[in-house]
Amino acid sequence: MPVTNPQLADKHLNARVNALLAKMTLEEKIGQLVQYSAGVPTGPATDRQNYATMIAAGEVGSLLNVGDAKTANMYQKIAVEQSRLHIPLIYGLDVIHGDRTVFPVPLGLAASFDPAMVKETARMAATEASADGVRWTFSPMVDIARDARWGRVVEGAGEDPYLGSAMARAYVHGYQGDRLSDPTSIAACVKHFAAYGAVTAGREYNAVDMSDVMLRQVYLPPYQAAIDAGAVTVMSSFNSLNGVPATADPYTLTQILRNEWGFQGFVVSDYHAVYELIDHGIALDSATAGQKAISAGLDMDMEGNVYHMRLAALVRDGQVPEATIDEAVRRILRVKFALGLFEHPYADDKAPAYVATPEKRALARQAAEESLVLLQNQAHLGQPKLLPIRPQVHTIALLGPFGDAQGEMLGSWSGKGNPADVVTLRTALEARMKATGGKVLYAQGTEILTQSETGFAAAIDAAKQSDLVLLTLGEDGPTMTGEAASRAHLGLPGNQEKLLEAVVATGKPVVLIVFSGRPLVLDWAAQHVSAIVEAWFPGIEAGPALTNILFGDVNPSGKLPVSFPYAMGQEPLYLSQLPTGRPAGDANLSHPPRNAAEKYLSRYIDVPNAPLFPFGHGLSYTEFNYAPVTLSAQQVSVAQLQGNAPALEASTDVRNAGAVAGTEVVQLYLRIRGASMEEPVRQLEGFQRVTLAPGETKHVTFSLGFPEMSFINAQSQRVVEPGTEYTVYIGGSSQATQSAQFNIVK
Ligand code: GLC
Repeated sequence: MPVTNPQLADKHLNARVNALLAKMTLEEKIGQLVQYSAGVPTGPATDRQNYATMIAAGEVGSLLNVGDAKTANMYQKIAVEQSRLHIPLIYGLDVIHGDRTVFPVPLGLAASFDPAMVKETARMAATEASADGVRWTFSPMVDIARDARWGRVVEGAGEDPYLGSAMARAYVHGYQGDRLSDPTSIAACVKHFAAYGAVTAGREYNAVDMSDVMLRQVYLPPYQAAIDAGAVTVMSSFNSLNGVPATADPYTLTQILRNEWGFQGFVVSDYHAVYELIDHGIALDSATAGQKAISAGLDMDMEGNVYHMRLAALVRDGQVPEATIDEAVRRILRVKFALGLFEHPYADDKAPAYVATPEKRALARQAAEESLVLLQNQAHLGQPKLLPIRPQVHTIALLGPFGDAQGEMLGSWSGKGNPADVVTLRTALEARMKATGGKVLYAQGTEILTQSETGFAAAIDAAKQSDLVLLTLGEDGPTMTGEAASRAHLGLPGNQEKLLEAVVATGKPVVLIVFSGRPLVLDWAAQHVSAIVEAWFPGIEAGPALTNILFGDVNPSGKLPVSFPYAMGQEPLYLSQLPTGRPAGDANLSHPPRNAAEKYLSRYIDVPNAPLFPFGHGLSYTEFNYAPVTLSAQQVSVAQLQGNAPALEASTDVRNAGAVAGTEVVQLYLRIRGASMEEPVRQLEGFQRVTLAPGETKHVTFSLGFPEMSFINAQSQRVVEPGTEYTVYIGGSSQATQSAQFNIVK
């Protein structure tokens, strides 16, 4: 059985766990399985007089949403000094893209294709959160999301399992550091297990139904990557999977997570999800809900009030073996011992208040710069490409509801982020233009969600007086993205599209800057606006990062982690689609188009199959040229693919053919043909960030082996098969054209 985190397998640690367990009463054991949310109005008076009483009695093992060291130490003191066995509490919090130093939302961080940088942001978040007594974050969220209607696309790394797995590892390593017992380490929590991103119709909390092949090929890899990276906790998801609610599913929680992956940490439910098994309809009462959840492998009940109130009777009535409780307690105690909570239970509540130091801002700015994606950059009325902004531009009109919005830049799940820490685009732009004698005309123009056009005139007037318009539009981060934020329309909310059309009608050159937590439908903008930048929600350094990119101080390198549609009706939309028996030959499908005029092809009659902006797309201010792909072999034998060692190298030369330095995300895609399964037209199996000076060429090599070449067969096994043909594509987006082929032989 693989050991996913040796720190949890340590013999001495487990001896301490078992010694403590042996002393515990049933109620004290159950107390370790109970988590409540601080600061939440208490439940029915009978349930919880107050936490202090319960903690002193050993009835609570964890609190979430305690955000400051003083409160954490107050409760911890009760647990450590007043409870009979002095077992410390573990504090959890949603530290999703930064704690106080708020970075771009995770979807934006994924657009950087820079796991090393993302790991640094997670490390910084861990040092800040742990200072407040938080030693456990409910992150990374690694749900693959291919339906832009789902609001939680923003919280993950997008549509692709390879990119998602790379980001999952980065967050886990950043949060947990080298040693969990380091006081600045925080336990990662891989969520939401499993396949929450595939909710039917993109509707929040909805059911998920898919084949085991799809589950294992697309949705499970990032969870497994996080577990293999050493993540010590997992959170079950709200959805049901193939008819079984994930919070009480022995297939995912025990068979896959424990028996196949060897996970030794613990599983916490999502908020109140144990109790909601009643709403799912698999329990007629909370006792049954508790019995099904604990038996399936759900160790800790977050705010469900079920384990606390029902488990003891279930054990005494013989409906739940005490051994089941013991194993859940062991898993939780392992993590508490590994974190060193018994030795270091308290936070330093004398620590100085948070300051967004220059070092913190520098990382936040770098993260934001790398997350920005230049979607379009065309000439305007004979002028060269609009971006970077040329020195001749003297007056800039900054319009739209995001240009001077601080809180909006933090996006959703911004934790302890403080809007006052945000440097807006207006602030940064005015400072820059003042330094060069330029002028900024600011007009908000409209709200995010309104039909009122009272601000239009001032905005249009500013545009008319300007040499260039920066128009900031998008969706409202805190209310239109994240949890419980599914949208059935993916256009710009309110009357923003009308403002866009009115500003474009002035004939002035327009740069559209989009703030969103998901792909939006930007079809009209793509046809009428010269330059478009996807900014996601860039965090506290939004303004400086945007100005550095817009003026070319930093060359954009971001690439899309999700496909942007022409129309909402294309959703769910993603690169790695299956070819079908009647492929329509769209730009990003790999086989030669058949007679595109043919009617009877797999496509819509009113929009293309292809996305408006494809996965992996992102422009630069320079141009990267790709030489043909070369392979170290034309054939690979199955025998060479035992284990994970590389068996083949794919290379190309990348040249910076432009006049400015730039960083390119070189991407490698594979297509498999001749297999026992229909395989996607392309799937990402490698990426590297390569920085090139003007005129510089670099030889870029990817190593390919079983992990990259394998796929899930009809028996749910990960295999390679003799007689299959692989096409390797390498380029700057999923539309890469340079390719080469090899075969797998016996
Ligand atoms: C929420 C979210 C989950 C979060 C948890 C604790 O409902 O689904 O992602 O970690 O509750 O806040």
